[in-house]
Amino acid sequence: MTLEQARAALAAARRVAVLTGAGASAESGIPTFRDAQTGHWARFRPEDLASPDAYRRDPETVWAWYAGRYRDVTQAQPNEAHHLLARLEREKGDGFFLATQNVDGLHARAGGERLVELHGNLSTARCETCGTVAPLPDPETFTPPPGCPVCAAPMRPNIVWFGEFLPELALEAATRAFEEADVALIVGTSGQVYPAAGLALETRRAGGVVIEVNPDETELTPYLTYSVRDVASRGLLALLDPTD
Ligand code: APR
Repeated sequence: MTLEQARAALAAARRVAVLTGAGASAESGIPTFRDAQTGHWARFRPEDLASPDAYRRDPETVWAWYAGRYRDVTQAQPNEAHHLLARLEREKGDGFFLATQNVDGLHARAGGERLVELHGNLSTARCETCGTVAPLPDPETFTPPPGCPVCAAPMRPNIVWFGEFLPELALEAATRAFEEADVALIVGTSGQVYPAAGLALETRRAGGVVIEVNPDETELTPYLTYSVRDVASRGLLALLDPTD
């Protein structure tokens, strides 16, 4: 497939499913998950902070890490890639679905509505005792751990950690959308983490077109229809604005 054909397929598609990963937020200044940790956190591997075991062993350290990331994403802004995807959603209406592995909330802040956050959200906390999900206070006044507004138990970050299951309804909705999609867009994900990465293959298996936007080759590349080798903003612009 050529870029020209990829653009045409996307323009003609009635149903479009999008999967985004850390690369979609890179241009907002949020480091990708597998980038080196910096400063105080350089001595930790993300895998050793983002796990139920780490939280059980040392909830204070885990909360301090998430509180810092929460503060960082609050200060970040959606970038052109988030805005282009929100525009595509307005064009396709109910034929659009977006599943993100990002926990930064930037798709919603760019106006995205038909979306699921497969790995949770940094700006909310979840009560392990009664299941309540509540927004965190303003980052300036927030001191973890937050207390549950319903039962007062300490809350945990509302993040899906390594070894945990994805929210069932969100994954079901995403799987259906990718199975039914005429075109799937895979933006800024290394495709290493399942089941999210498997969504791209659902569309392929059902005979749809799958287009990747990523400056680098990924684990998914060999299985996809076409790859735009560029950063998310420019790659999406090339697919959506053929005359520019
Ligand atoms: N535009 C597009 N893609 C980019 C950009 C950019 N500006 N910069 C980097 N990338 C690509 C990289 O080439 C890489 O393939 O983004 C991808 C980021 O990969 P990861 O850091 O592995 O992030 P992601 O795929 O989102 O990870 C999935 O793994 O650790 C878990 O829960 C965590 O949600 C995360 C999941």
